[in-house]
Amino acid sequence: MMSTDQIDWAEVWADRMKRHYEMNGGTDCADCWDDEEEARNYWRMVQHDCGGYVDHLLDRIRVEPTFRVLDIGAGPGTLAIPFSKMAAHVTAVEPSVSMATVLRENLDERGIENVDCIQKRWEEVDVERDLKPPYDLVVASFSLGMTDIKAAVQKMMTVSSGRVYLAWFAGDTSWDVQAREVSALLFGDVAYHPMPKSDVLFNFLYQMGVYPNVWVFPLRMDHRFPSFDDALNYFGGQYRVSTDDQRAKLSGYLSQVVEKDGESWAMTYDFLNMMIWWDNNHQET
Ligand SMILES: C[S@@+](CC[C@H](N)C(=O)[O-])C[C@H]1O[C@@H](n2cnc3c(N)ncnc32)[C@H](O)[C@@H]1O
Repeated sequence: MMSTDQIDWAEVWADRMKRHYEMNGGTDCADCWDDEEEARNYWRMVQHDCGGYVDHLLDRIRVEPTFRVLDIGAGPGTLAIPFSKMAAHVTAVEPSVSMATVLRENLDERGIENVDCIQKRWEEVDVERDLKPPYDLVVASFSLGMTDIKAAVQKMMTVSSGRVYLAWFAGDTSWDVQAREVSALLFGDVAYHPMPKSDVLFNFLYQMGVYPNVWVFPLRMDHRFPSFDDALNYFGGQYRVSTDDQRAKLSGYLSQVVEKDGESWAMTYDFLNMMIWWDNNHQET
């Protein structure tokens, strides 16, 4: 048996992330938001369901009026917008064209002028040319799509002069469970490769000498569709359905999990968030 001392947790992360992306035909976590309807839908979900998430974080994350904040993978501005009202400045890194479009629209609509948007992957950000470190607060919320987690976290630590917060999934999400069930139903017993989860992230941090604080809480979001057929088309695309038989099986499956809710149909996404954070001033590395 392999000694547990030999486990390189950054390698485990890279291996799981690569297998997940290969399973998705090479689409990574930044590419997958490059559809404008997807980005707008995400913003609708955030506004409708994420108040609890944002309030929960704002209650517990210290933000001073003088703070300069770095939000990595800012999306439509879930955190960048509230942080902009509490801090002096926010730098939002957001690679997806569609998400960056929605973010800029949201900033314009609200007349927010203290947020800069850098439209790049975190891996592509040049610390000297693109950023003005140090940042008092660095956040990456559900945006750790990087394969090389070690380089990504080291870069965060290089630019941080205070706390770093990472929000990431703990355990199977509802879409992991469903993807396994749908794969088995539609394609037989094929392997499903989820993204690496917070256990790998925590172990990797510990291995590099970062001993983080952790808090866990559940989150839930409803993905709404105008009709059941719209839901079927959406998930048909996600699961790469190509035959009438697969579509019929998927329709049967979805009829049990997509629920009519007023005028729309809703798929509920359930998951546990593990908030992992540390103070850069009190770590070994
Ligand atoms: C699920 S959204 C989260 C948005 C927002 N942070 C939130 O908590 O609602 C994930 C975001 O991370 C971004 N992202 C994915 N990979 C990234 C990378 N390598 N560097 C920077 N951002 C990335 C995506 O483009 C997307 O906007």
